[in-house]
Amino acid sequence: IPVEDFDLVIFGGTGDLARRKILPGLYRRFCSGQMPETARIIGAARSEHDTAEFRQIVRDAIREFSKKNECDDALIGTFLERLHYVQVDAKGEDGWGDLRDLMRKDVVKAYYFSVAPSLFGDLAERLQAHGIADEDARIVVEKPFGRDLASAKKLNQDLAKHFDETQIYRIDHYLGKETVQNLMAVRFGNILFEPLWNSQYVDHIQITVAETVGVGGRGEYYDKSGAMRDMVQNHLMQLLCLIAMEPPSRFDPDAVRDEKLKVIRALEPIDHHHIVRGQYDATETEPSYREDAGDPRSRTESFIALRCMISNWRWAGTPFYLRTGKKLKARASEIAVVFKDAPHSIFGEEAGRHANVLSIRLQPNEGMTLKVTIKEPGPGGMRLIDVPLDMSFADALGEEADDIPDAYERLIMDVIRGNQTLFMRGDEVQAAWAWTDPLIESWEARSDVPKLYDAYSSGPEDAAMMLHREGRRWREIKE
Ligand code: BG6
Repeated sequence: IPVEDFDLVIFGGTGDLARRKILPGLYRRFCSGQMPETARIIGAARSEHDTAEFRQIVRDAIREFSKKNECDDALIGTFLERLHYVQVDAKGEDGWGDLRDLMRKDVVKAYYFSVAPSLFGDLAERLQAHGIADEDARIVVEKPFGRDLASAKKLNQDLAKHFDETQIYRIDHYLGKETVQNLMAVRFGNILFEPLWNSQYVDHIQITVAETVGVGGRGEYYDKSGAMRDMVQNHLMQLLCLIAMEPPSRFDPDAVRDEKLKVIRALEPIDHHHIVRGQYDATETEPSYREDAGDPRSRTESFIALRCMISNWRWAGTPFYLRTGKKLKARASEIAVVFKDAPHSIFGEEAGRHANVLSIRLQPNEGMTLKVTIKEPGPGGMRLIDVPLDMSFADALGEEADDIPDAYERLIMDVIRGNQTLFMRGDEVQAAWAWTDPLIESWEARSDVPKLYDAYSSGPEDAAMMLHREGRRWREIKE
């Protein structure tokens, strides 16, 4: 279904995120017939370009960052006709009049701030001062949304001076991933799972986002951030919220975001014994984290594992183990709900322990597996074995699976539709920082040094020990 006609301005329109994700994503939506014929995309940046040059930059970006079979010269040509470029100075007055003259009346207006957060306030102020944004205009901002509670509050205040909360779209691209949205469909679209979804039946939950890439190339940014700020405060906490929240009354922005906020507010502080931080070591051919970061004494973590507890009626006593890291064994993200053993085994001790596990693979090979216990076939009596009930989305959906939009495409279209459900509200972001701040302060105060781990392993041994002490083990990291 095509969206309403729009003018989308991308500040930082020639930058990395715009070239890698935003513009190729818009091109794909255009190819799927979702973009009205007159919709326009306006690149705005400080660099001196004209529209023809901008179109060339975007043509190259689409070729570089889209799949080969998506690149059709004629289609790219038609798409590029929607593109315009304006040179603007975020901190000065140059170019704003040109931008105002270019914008059309009576269409949806969206402004994507694909720039450093230090410019958010300046852009918001100038859009209003020059009368460019109308009451219905939307602004889109990206992480890092602050680096602690104080800076996030300041960003929220700077934006709130010029825009209403209903106009602000804070992107966490994990919420745009099809499989992440599917968490809500699985939980609230089936009667099967929800009655068991609590501490009475669930032993523990594991959330893993493992990457094989290191931080080489972006070491300078990453070293100021670390896995906690870069991944946990946003992406992993969003996953935790979707898994743990109460059913919202409707799939609407505030109903969903209210429930997520309650989860974050119910998170207990974590004792440092339940946090393991790590840094990847060098291999024979590849540098260590500290070399990538350009600081031989860096104490920033490229891996983190934590045990979170949620203090509410549903989850009291059920640990949520979270881990994420760079240069791990495989690129694999999954959520595993590990159920308790059956309360009594009619097959006796020798049948062993068999817990059901529901694992939801977020990427790659999106799908779900339910581990169930059955009788081992054959005449040898009642021996039990565990087998997977496996569902790969690609198999189940066939060709439709190829047409699943990338996270950014989906989210940008939601901005145009005016649907904030998959975007973070200001209070949600602040609550997440309010929870992570004391944890970070605590390890900084203790001058905690991350444990070294072998590149392409499962992370530091201490992370395994953390679960082992509680009679549990991490699931294997594999594609
Ligand atoms: C980004 C982080 O937000 O998410 C990166 O800054 C990380 O460090 C990336 O690599 C992971 O995203 P995805 O979509 O590849 O899982």
